[in-house]
Amino acid sequence: MISDQNIQLDAAGRIIHFLSVEGLSAKTLVNILDHAETFTSVGDRTVKKVPLLRGKTVVNLFFEASTRTRTTFELAAKRLSADIMNINIDASATSKGESLADTLRTLESMQADMFVVRHQDSGAPAFIARQVASGVSVINAGDGRHAHPTQAMLDMFTIRRHKPNFGKLTVTIVGDIKHSRVARSEIHALKILGVPDIRVVAPKTLIPAEIERLGVSVYHDIKQGIRDADVVIMLRLQKERMSSALLPSGSEFFNTYGLTRKNLKFAKSDVIVMHPGPINRGVEIDSAVADSKQSLILEQVANGIAVRMAIMSLVVGNAAL
Ligand code: CP
Repeated sequence: MISDQNIQLDAAGRIIHFLSVEGLSAKTLVNILDHAETFTSVGDRTVKKVPLLRGKTVVNLFFEASTRTRTTFELAAKRLSADIMNINIDASATSKGESLADTLRTLESMQADMFVVRHQDSGAPAFIARQVASGVSVINAGDGRHAHPTQAMLDMFTIRRHKPNFGKLTVTIVGDIKHSRVARSEIHALKILGVPDIRVVAPKTLIPAEIERLGVSVYHDIKQGIRDADVVIMLRLQKERMSSALLPSGSEFFNTYGLTRKNLKFAKSDVIVMHPGPINRGVEIDSAVADSKQSLILEQVANGIAVRMAIMSLVVGNAAL
């Protein structure tokens, strides 16, 4: 896979593409979070727009299904006054055998300034970033198992709003760690921001090899894993990325790893519960928890707009970061 680090920064160290949080500095991540704070009020205005991306054309290029990421990128682009095109891949020439590079050249000829890319293959956004003309930016909206950096940033934003001191937090990520691009990006972001205690909880079949190298502790018992946690992040089973059956059934998974009110009592009394979505009720999370006051699942979605506005304005170079 092509390394993100060599292509997402220019020679002066400025971000020109947003492909991964790995390798970025704490200062850069905090700047994105601070900048996103300034965009949260735009949604409350009568005219929900600022002119930062006026005259720019953004293309949403989603080769995989999405509800939250695609729509919040679209809203973010519109609130920044950009023109946005959503490409329906199923109805595009890709379904007639056109290569990714040729689809890209076709869209580039329409003077696109930014591509927001979701793809089932790890490394596809980096491949596209290498192909595009100078001045055109690529944002990774989730690629294979590799990374989902804007999800990680909106989750850091959500955590900081409720638990501002990253240096004192215990954060537990529960579920299908092995196939999760969200887990990888979140672990990198939490490490960079100085979280001292990061835990992952899953059956052995859903833990990637050598995950400890990222600086996390591995648990196979949910009660132990969430004990005294400040933040619990639940993940769904990503069956579309499983090459073979790694679990007996969803109900058996729920019995052992599902987040219930009973399990949650092992965490701190003011614990917050998060989930990037889509949620599978009764598989990884009980409705009583998903719909509880401790759950920030819908707040995460709303925060995605401001955070994506911050990242889009950053890569286009108009943000004062
Ligand atoms: N969290 C997330 O990526 O959701 P979508 O697949 O709906 O975009």
